[in-house]
Amino acid sequence: MEALEAILTRRSTRKYKEEIPEKDLVERIIEAGRYAPSGSNSQTTHFIVFTDKEILTEMAELVKEEFSKMEAGRDTYVSLRNSINASRSGNYTFHYGAPVFIVAANKKGYGNAMADSACALENMMIAANALDLGSCWINQLHWLDENERVRAFMGHYGLKEDETITGGLIVGYPDTGLPDRKPLERKGNPVTWVK
Ligand SMILES: Cc1cc2nc3c(=O)[nH]c(=O)nc-3n(C[C@H](O)[C@H](O)[C@H](O)COP(=O)(O)O)c2cc1C
Repeated sequence: MEALEAILTRRSTRKYKEEIPEKDLVERIIEAGRYAPSGSNSQTTHFIVFTDKEILTEMAELVKEEFSKMEAGRDTYVSLRNSINASRSGNYTFHYGAPVFIVAANKKGYGNAMADSACALENMMIAANALDLGSCWINQLHWLDENERVRAFMGHYGLKEDETITGGLIVGYPDTGLPDRKPLERKGNPVTWVK
């Protein structure tokens, strides 16, 4: 698929087949993330890749438990508030049963940590689309970056003490076969041309 087409038809997938995509495909997606640009070419984004169903279920349960202990105030950012409220309901969703979860981390205190990771995550989402795989950014681990249990869990699987969780990405075969590629209408993201 041509690059611009892969960008313009990328959508978030939230229903997956159980089957883990071939390792070669997952590696190509991660490579796309690793080839993203980084501030001063720092290349400090760390990719932690989960494909074990039991570990992913354990992670989802942990995230739900920790959100359910939090209180959402009036000033709580809407996505975080939604996660906190959902954790107390029966239909809480975390990784939508996707078979692959790639956690992105970066150095604590590094000013471009989030920007670099976002470049990597976007590269991976576009690569997944180009390879006929679905993907979706999953942010809950970022919100829980300072949570002791979450840090201990992630530390066990490779997160370093000096790293902050910047985001996450689920990947897999969409339940319908190919990704839904119909773009959402753009009502925001204004453009100002200066003459
Ligand atoms: C920074 C960021 C965080 C996001 N977090 C989540 C998330 O935790 N769960 C989720 O289902 N989607 C998440 N998304 C996906 C957005 O909801 C999605 O991109 C948006 O609704 C537009 O839909 P599209 O990706 O299909 O174009 C996130 C996207 C971004 C860029």
